[in-house]
Amino acid sequence: MSSPCCISAVLLVFMALAVGARAEQSGERSCDVIGDKSSESQMERALLKKLEPLSQMRFNVTVEKGKTENYIYQFRVCREVNSTLQDFAGLVQTNRQNGKTTVIGRINETQVFNGSDWIMLIYKGGDSYGSHCSSEKRRAVIMISCKQGVTASSFSIVSEEREKEQDCFYLFEMDSSVACPAEDSHLSVGSILLITFASLIAVYIIGGFLYQRLVVGAKGMEQFPHFAFWQDLGNLVADGCDFVCRSKPRNAPAAYRGVGDDQLGEESEERDDHLLPM
Ligand SMILES: *[C@@H]1O[C@H](CO)[C@@H](O)[C@H](O)[C@H]1NC(C)=O
Ligand SMILES: *[C@@H]1O[C@H](CO)[C@@H](O)[C@H](O)[C@H]1NC(C)=O
Ligand SMILES: *[C@@H]1O[C@H](CO)[C@@H](O)[C@H](O)[C@H]1NC(C)=O
Ligand SMILES: *[C@@H]1O[C@H](CO)[C@@H](O)[C@H](O)[C@H]1NC(C)=O
Repeated sequence: MSSPCCISAVLLVFMALAVGARAEQSGERSCDVIGDKSSESQMERALLKKLEPLSQMRFNVTVEKGKTENYIYQFRVCREVNSTLQDFAGLVQTNRQNGKTTVIGRINETQVFNGSDWIMLIYKGGDSYGSHCSSEKRRAVIMISCKQGVTASSFSIVSEEREKEQDCFYLFEMDSSVACPAEDSHLSVGSILLITFASLIAVYIIGGFLYQRLVVGAKGMEQFPHFAFWQDLGNLVADGCDFVCRSKPRNAPAAYRGVGDDQLGEESEERDDHLLPM
């Protein structure tokens, strides 16, 4: 019973170590928010950590409007779309007609904030607009909404706002469970151990019961696994308790009993009688 349990525990530890090691190995550059390491917002840092599970994924969306517009947008959460370029580009637009790429937002100028069931990720510092928006730098705004059970899905472009003097942006949206509010009922290590232990006991009793009944063909109390052993153990414990806890010798109260029996007379016997068939 104990050895498969030990093996799985050891496996779990190894898996945890492997995952941790992999995260440290990938030396790719990540999101950088405003401020030095010491003056960064704690909230932004917590949110970036929350987004980390999405960082290995790549998202694309194609936009085709008539003959003139045929773009593909490539997006990564807090990683460079093409890390060989070393340009911090986190969201890139490629014109599929001429292959020209335009950086919409860079991960070294990230802003992030959240609400109860959404996270807003903003990449600033993209390539400058030509004539629109006072030739300011492009900006990508990605709205991540809570959706239980999906790591990430439905990445799409909502709109491109460039018909104003400044503060233009490209708006995207996607669904992910990382944006969902944290559940309060986080199980402690103690309760996980307890649940595991209880499950093991249940498996032992049910499995042993079935084995004794179906394979050995036992009946009644004998169907319990290792019945004789547990019976012996019970007796041993009872003896131990008796020895440790009893403050007077076992036969000492006999002196009182005589009196009690006399007084109670038949009544006591009647009371005992109905216990007998048990
Ligand atoms: C997006 O495109 C990249 C390269 O073009 C590809 O590696 C990746 O699998 C694509 N992702 C999705 C979700 O289609
Ligand atoms: C990344 O950029 C390099 C240099 O321009 C290019 O050769 C390579 O194909 C790009 N990789 C991807 C996945 O787009
Ligand atoms: C981010 O990277 C780009 C490209 O390397 C650079 O031009 C820009 O100044 C950087 N922004 C910050 C805030 O460091
Ligand atoms: C934003 O995320 C943090 C960390 O997960 C959470 O504690 C906080 O409640 C969230 N903010 C709102 C407005 O829900």
